[in-house]
Amino acid sequence: PWLLVLTGLMAYLLGSIPFGIVITRAMGLGDLRSIGSGNIGATNVLRTGNKGAALATLILDAAKGGIAVLIARYAVGEDAAQLAALTSFIGHIFPVWLRFKGGKGVATFIGTLLALAWPVGLAVCATWAVTAALSRISSLSALVAAGSSTLWMLGLGQGRMFLLGVLLTLLIYWRHAANIARLRAGTEPKIGKK
Ligand code: G3P
Repeated sequence: PWLLVLTGLMAYLLGSIPFGIVITRAMGLGDLRSIGSGNIGATNVLRTGNKGAALATLILDAAKGGIAVLIARYAVGEDAAQLAALTSFIGHIFPVWLRFKGGKGVATFIGTLLALAWPVGLAVCATWAVTAALSRISSLSALVAAGSSTLWMLGLGQGRMFLLGVLLTLLIYWRHAANIARLRAGTEPKIGKK
C-alpha cells in the first residue's frame, strides 16, 4: 500500500507542474494570470498570440498526466494507474506551487485517458476536435468531450474506468463554471480570441 501512496503522490507532483506558466514566463509572453480568462491552460496561452507556446503547453500538460499513469501502472498495477490519473489531475487543478489555484484539467484529463486506455483517449480527443471545428469554442468542446467520456468508456469496453470518468467529468464541469456562465450569456470567446 505504501507504494500506492507513493505513486499517487508522485502523480500529484507531476500533475502540479504548471507548464502554461512555466512556458509563458520562459518565453517572456507576459503574466498568463492577467491575460484572457486568467487560466493556466493551453487555450489561454494561445491568447498571448504564440501558437508554439500553446501547443507546447497542451502537449506537456497532457504528457504529465499520461506519464504519471504509465509509471504507476509499471510500478504497481492498474489500480495505481487509475489513482495516478486522479491525483495528477488534482495536481493540475490544485497545484501546491500556485497556492492551489490551478487549471481546468482538460489536457491532463486527455493525457491520462490516452495512457489508461488509448481508444477512449482518442475518442475523447476526436469529440473535442469535432466540437471545436464546429463551434470554435474551447470550453464548449471540453464540456462536450468530458461529457462524452463515460459513454466512450462503456461503449469501448472500459467500464472499469467508469467511476473515475464520472469523477473527473464532474470536476471539469465545476472548474468550467465561469465558462458555462459565459456560454449561456453568449459571451464566451472563440479559440484564439481574447
Ligand atoms: O481547457 C480550458 C478550456 O476549456 C477553457 O479555457 O481559458 O477559455 O477558460 P479558457
